[in-house]
Amino acid sequence: MYAETPFHTPFAVPFEHRLLITRNALDPANAILAETLDPTTADAAKARVAFILDAGLVNAQPDLPDRAVAYANAHESIHLAHDPVTMPGGEIAKNEPAILESTLRLIDAAHLCRRSYLIAVGGGALLDLAGYAAAIAHRGIRLVRLPSTTLAQDDSGVGVKNGINHFGKKNFLGAFAVPHAVINDLDLLTTLTDRDWTSGFSEAVKVALVKDAAFFDRIESAAAAIAARDLTAAEPVIRDSALLHLRHITEGGDPFELTEARPLDFGHWSAHKLEQLSGYELRHGEAVAIGVALDTLYSSLAGDLPDPDADRVLATLRSLGFTLDHPLLDDPRLIEGLEEFREHLGGQLTISLLHGIGNAYDTHTINLDLVRQSIARLRS
Ligand SMILES: NC(=O)c1ccc[n+]([C@@H]2O[C@H](COP(=O)([O-])OP(=O)(O)OC[C@H]3O[C@@H](n4cnc5c(N)ncnc54)[C@H](O)[C@@H]3O)[C@@H](O)[C@H]2O)c1
Ligand SMILES: [Zn+2]
Repeated sequence: MYAETPFHTPFAVPFEHRLLITRNALDPANAILAETLDPTTADAAKARVAFILDAGLVNAQPDLPDRAVAYANAHESIHLAHDPVTMPGGEIAKNEPAILESTLRLIDAAHLCRRSYLIAVGGGALLDLAGYAAAIAHRGIRLVRLPSTTLAQDDSGVGVKNGINHFGKKNFLGAFAVPHAVINDLDLLTTLTDRDWTSGFSEAVKVALVKDAAFFDRIESAAAAIAARDLTAAEPVIRDSALLHLRHITEGGDPFELTEARPLDFGHWSAHKLEQLSGYELRHGEAVAIGVALDTLYSSLAGDLPDPDADRVLATLRSLGFTLDHPLLDDPRLIEGLEEFREHLGGQLTISLLHGIGNAYDTHTINLDLVRQSIARLRS
């Protein structure tokens, strides 16, 4: 007898995911942000906060640091513990260890405790970096995200993951951490470059393909207007994509991805590898558009997805403004993406494919010949 009767005791931790959709979140008259913050100490009745801002966003909206300060000063319930700090945005934020160090220094200098708030305003990369720093400082301080790209508003900012790249691998370091709140502010998106504007809509197409055929129809109809940067056409697509991602996390039964099924990673095995092979010249969303097209073609070549459906998917991605052909598709290292994807997710290789639009299934085997044929189709 080596052990007593085991004391295995299941327990559950309640979480609440707060997603708020607004306009002009940093207008002092807009109380939404202030109202999501609880006082850091009961006696002081103020929330201690520090802002971290994406440099690309600040470059496009130079008054943002002043707006953040004015917002904090206008709200009795906020104690601004440090001047807003601007950090590089884009993938460099996740590639450069010194930027993580500077973010941790900000948390230390502002004396943020586990009941204080780091408020991150920026694209998916800056939010991933800030989220990782918030998750590891004091084993987890509170994070509020104000996503400033289409991709961050319709997908990444809503999620419960963060991470930085290490050993040349995407998101090698990271944690699952539920943000205190996510505030989507459509007005932040107006200064995006056309490239970054388009980029996020591949994630909306992705989630529609695996979850909701009617949503795909709506994206298909709105695609040309979205490409022309019509905010009225884009707004419901961003919102519905965010809500589908949110619902998957809160109702899908596996928020911390303990099982192998990962439908929201449809098209991502090749996307992550293409991003890496391009030295991150390709945006995540651009790579996802190519990856989604590739696995859509694979699904049709495998005899699962009717050809007209595959044609609609590719046409919609192109109409949104994506280029689906890329020379790196011919790079033999692309296939290594399958094994890296398996290793990152753990367990058996599990890839989502399509039976139909809005109807995904999982497979554990990928036929490399069919992958090559799918690439050839995409390249032609
Ligand atoms: N954590 C997750 O669950 C998750 C999910 C999907 C993607 N991601 C990650 O998100 C990252 C991609 O994020 P992204 O597509 O938002 O791009 P990004 O964060 O790389 O930003 C793109 C560029 O836009 C600039 N920018 C941001 N907001 C701006 C604005 N409003 N006006 C002008 N410029 C602005 C940035 O400075 C940057 O140069 C990738 O690292 C990807 O891995 C994470
Ligand atoms: Zn993605």
